[in-house]
Amino acid sequence: MNHRLLISGGRLIDPASGHDAPADLLIEDGHIAWVGPGAPPQELDAILDATGLVVAPGFVDLHCHLREPGYEEKETIATATRAATRGGFTTVCAMPNTNPPTDSAAIIDFIKEKARTKGVVKVLPVGCISKGRRGQELAEMAAMAAAGAVAFSDDGSPVSDPRLMRHALEYSLSFGLPIMEHAEDEALSRDGAMHEGEVSLRLGLRGIPAAAEEAAVARDIALARLTGAKLHLCHISTAGAMEMVRRAREEGLPVTAEVTPHHLTLTHEQVLAPVPYDTSAKVNPPLRAPQDVRALVDGLRDGVIDAIATDHAPHTAMDKLVEFDFAPPGISGLETALGALLALVHSGEMDLMTLVTRLTTGPAKVIGHPLGSLTVGLPADVVLFDPTREWVVDPTAFASRGRNTPLAGRALRGKVMATLAQGVLAYRDEAVSLSLSSQAEPQRIRG
Ligand code: DOR
Ligand code: ZN
Repeated sequence: MNHRLLISGGRLIDPASGHDAPADLLIEDGHIAWVGPGAPPQELDAILDATGLVVAPGFVDLHCHLREPGYEEKETIATATRAATRGGFTTVCAMPNTNPPTDSAAIIDFIKEKARTKGVVKVLPVGCISKGRRGQELAEMAAMAAAGAVAFSDDGSPVSDPRLMRHALEYSLSFGLPIMEHAEDEALSRDGAMHEGEVSLRLGLRGIPAAAEEAAVARDIALARLTGAKLHLCHISTAGAMEMVRRAREEGLPVTAEVTPHHLTLTHEQVLAPVPYDTSAKVNPPLRAPQDVRALVDGLRDGVIDAIATDHAPHTAMDKLVEFDFAPPGISGLETALGALLALVHSGEMDLMTLVTRLTTGPAKVIGHPLGSLTVGLPADVVLFDPTREWVVDPTAFASRGRNTPLAGRALRGKVMATLAQGVLAYRDEAVSLSLSSQAEPQRIRG
């Protein structure tokens, strides 16, 4: 017997079709079966009441550190994918700075198998560009592509050798997958702990100049022009980098970029206040100056930036309980992303359709996957969120093992209320009512 779940009474936003109006969504056997106002009469197994909520495609995160294999004390595929459901993400790309690094088909297989048995959302592995992420020789990119890698990156580190980067781009042309570059000139960033500017000066911390990112972005764009290969720039953080991406796009180069919720909403002032030297505000690239944040928001709105990616980087409390200089960079970001980003909508800087686009079809296009839409026939990856509901960030309640966030104790406006991953109700806030018919088999709804 077919299994039917109706999501009723919500405001349905689907960037793929441009739909933004009240509509019901019928899910049959885990797939989107029907979209529109007033569903045709039929027997239902369950109804999810979306009154007052936005119903949108599940978010796609291009950049997530799941930490498995090797750093399970920080996070696992099981805990990260649960955190994803609480953040409204139904697809996460797994970055390869694991231990061992994801530089072979065997490790791609391991991640896929873990995701299949322990994961609750889709996990798409990203393979290393270089063997061991050492930046010396190319990894087995073809074998990893065949095993299911969706992109290549040495993230955590840049590919410092421009010749190796050129070869990686050229090689990637044979499988058409993007090279995701962590753009950082390490000669310029070395020993830096935060953005180089007036705050680093006041705190006496060594700075990472905006030029460290901009020099690397300039080089990478030149190499994209030379090779014609797909270059995706990770977590761009400066106004200058943004301008270069804008010009590359105008030139028609195959360059895409992502920006993180923290770089869109926080500045380097976060390292000074409310808690000076707060290691939860240490991240790479560092939180930048207010004019950088404004440029990133403009670029995101204009579509120069295709995607918002969390760069979810969980660390243990012990990892971060050290002097600022010694703390590892990273913010646990999956569970706060939407609430933080909605500030841009509340302030009038961006409309909701644009924000949802950059979390769904934007990132899906970067990796060329048919994700992030509510098209009939697709697996039901759906998020329900209340754009105005207030809540206070309590990291001890995170599903992620990483409680490292500078937003602890902060009130956010906008909250994920339910997430369906491949048709399964993977997360539901108890405020959302779910009615089951007497014949329903709850395990088919809740997975
Ligand atoms: O803040 C960061 N954390 N930036 C990176 O590039 C790596 C990441 C991590 O893996 O912790
Ligand atoms: Zn990175």
